[in-house]
Amino acid sequence: MIKQAIIPLAGLGTRLLPLTSVFPKELLPINGKPGIEYILDECIEAGIKEIIFIISKKKELIKTYFHNDHFYRKIIKKKKDKRIQYEYKKILKYKKMIKFVYQNKPLGTGDAILKSRKFVKDKFFLMLLPDDLIINNNCSKSMIKIHKKYKSSVMASMTVDKKTVSRWGIYKLKKKLDNENFIINDVIEKPSKKNAPSNKAVIGRYILPKTIFSKLNHQKPSKGGEVHITDSIRSLIKDENKFIAHNFKGKYLDCGTLDGYIKSGLEISNL
Ligand code: G1P
Repeated sequence: MIKQAIIPLAGLGTRLLPLTSVFPKELLPINGKPGIEYILDECIEAGIKEIIFIISKKKELIKTYFHNDHFYRKIIKKKKDKRIQYEYKKILKYKKMIKFVYQNKPLGTGDAILKSRKFVKDKFFLMLLPDDLIINNNCSKSMIKIHKKYKSSVMASMTVDKKTVSRWGIYKLKKKLDNENFIINDVIEKPSKKNAPSNKAVIGRYILPKTIFSKLNHQKPSKGGEVHITDSIRSLIKDENKFIAHNFKGKYLDCGTLDGYIKSGLEISNL
């Protein structure tokens, strides 16, 4: 069973400036709810019991958000407001599940994940990138089902416009399992149009084996001087680890850019 999720949250959020100059992007509201709560709700509904947040000193506000008990208790004592009590209960539920780990230098997703090594208990864990919201269908839940069936790693996948391949991790497909699931035999981080093996992109949901930590431990930084998780996945695939690309059913919302963030709020408000 997949019981643990890791969420890297130490990124600087420069694509969302000026909104992120003092405020962590994951706490920005999307239709009246902090973006990170959509991700947490997806995890909880998928049966996740423990969530590891990788933050940095610059993003301590995220910890404050979940550890503000004193403030809530004072307010609730003064005003017996049902809505505030409900919100506080929700925050307490999240707080109980979250462990905080620090990545103080922004050296990439791979480096972030490596920081959580000693907390990962089971053979496989879920990793979610908080910029990627998937609505209308619980992508993590579907991926956990696929993992159970095939006992393999799984990554969320989406067909993208060929012109945009250099923005994503791009797969090479090996074998169709059914209409939504494919075994892959390579993945390249942000390839040029010329080098892209397809136009199937990795979206930010991954079920990864614990063995990825020994790959990450020896992995050199690549594009942009960062340690990319994609490079370690590639190396695991070369070692005959099975990876499945899962074409998810929900709708993808890119909250990592200013334009995408604004559109996400509008899209969710129209549900
Ligand atoms: C990351 C991954 C990339 C993936 C993308 C999905 O890139 O490195 O492989 O396709 O998320 O959103 P980033 O968005 O951090 O540039």
